[in-house]
Amino acid sequence: MMAGMNIQDTKIFAEGAAYVNGAFVPVAEASVPLTDLGFIRSDATYDVVHVWNGNFFRLNDHVDRFLGSCDRLRFSLPLAKDELIRMLHGMVARTGFDKAYVNFTATRGRLAKGSRNPLDCENRVYGFTIPFSWIAPFDEQEAGIDMIVANPERTAPETLDPTIKNFQWGDLTRGMIEASDTGAKVAVHLNRHGNVTEGAGFNTFVFKDGTLWTPDAGVLMGITRRTVLEIAERQGLDVRVTTVPEKILRDADEIFISSTAGGVIPIRSLDGTPVGNKSNSRVALDIRETYWTLHDDPAYATPVRYDLADV
Ligand SMILES: Cc1ncc(COP(=O)(O)O)c(C=O)c1O
Repeated sequence: MMAGMNIQDTKIFAEGAAYVNGAFVPVAEASVPLTDLGFIRSDATYDVVHVWNGNFFRLNDHVDRFLGSCDRLRFSLPLAKDELIRMLHGMVARTGFDKAYVNFTATRGRLAKGSRNPLDCENRVYGFTIPFSWIAPFDEQEAGIDMIVANPERTAPETLDPTIKNFQWGDLTRGMIEASDTGAKVAVHLNRHGNVTEGAGFNTFVFKDGTLWTPDAGVLMGITRRTVLEIAERQGLDVRVTTVPEKILRDADEIFISSTAGGVIPIRSLDGTPVGNKSNSRVALDIRETYWTLHDDPAYATPVRYDLADV
C-alpha cells in the first residue's frame, strides 16, 4: 500500500476507481447518463495515460493532447487543466496502483430540453483507472506478435479526424475480430490509397533497408509514437515520417507497433508470413529497451500524488 492511503480506500477501489459527476466511485459502480451524446452519438474524446512504478508517463503530453482535442470539438470542460491533473492523481491515489491504465474522457453531455444543437450541451468529464492493460503481455513481446492486414480500410481522415482520439472504433473493432478469427494478435488498416495507417490502439512502424518509416497523417499522433521518434533520433536512425506504401510493409525487415497499452511491440508475422529475414536486426528491441528506461527519467515521469487519496 502506498503512503497516504487508508485500508478502506484500497478495499473499495481494489478493482479500480472512477470519476463521475465530480465524485470518485469504485469502477464497477461508475455509469454515464443514457442520454449523454458521448454514449449515443460517440460525441466524445478521450485519452489514456499510464502509471508505471508509481509514475505517470508523459502526463503533461497526454493532458495537452486531450485538451487540444476538446478545443477542436468545441467542448468547454467543467475542469481546468490543473483540476484535471489533480483528478487523475486522486483517482490513481485511491486505488494505490503503482502500475495502471488511466482513462479520461470528455463528452458532449446531454442536449438542453427541446434542443438539437450540440453547442447547447453541458460538457462532461469522466475518468477511470484500472490495472495496467497490455496489447500483448510483456513476456510475449520479445518474440514478437502476429499481425494481419485488416479488410476494412481505416476510416478516411476527411470523414473523421483520427488525430482527435475518438470512440468511432467500427473499423478497428472489425479488424480485431478478423485478427482473432485468424489467430493473430493485431490488425493494421490501410487507407483508401493502400497506404499503412494504424490499428486498434496502436501506431505502426516499418524498418526497411536502414530506414524507419511511420505514417505522417491519417493516424493518431500517439504519445508512444512520439517517444519512439525521439529515441530513433537520439540513436541517429534514418527516419521518414511520410506515406508508407503497403509494399514497404510487406517487404519490411522489421515491423513494430507503439501504444500506451504495452509500449513498443515487435511483429513477427504479417498475414502468416514471417517478417524480415535478418535475424540480427533488432531495431524494435533496442527502441523498446530505451522506451522502458525512460520511465525513470524525470523529464518523462511524474510521481503519482498518493497523498491525494482522500481529497
Ligand atoms: C487509433 C489509435 N492509434 C494509436 C494509438 C497509440 O497512441 P498512444 O501511443 O498515445 O497510446 C491509440 C491509442 O489508444 C489509438 O487508439
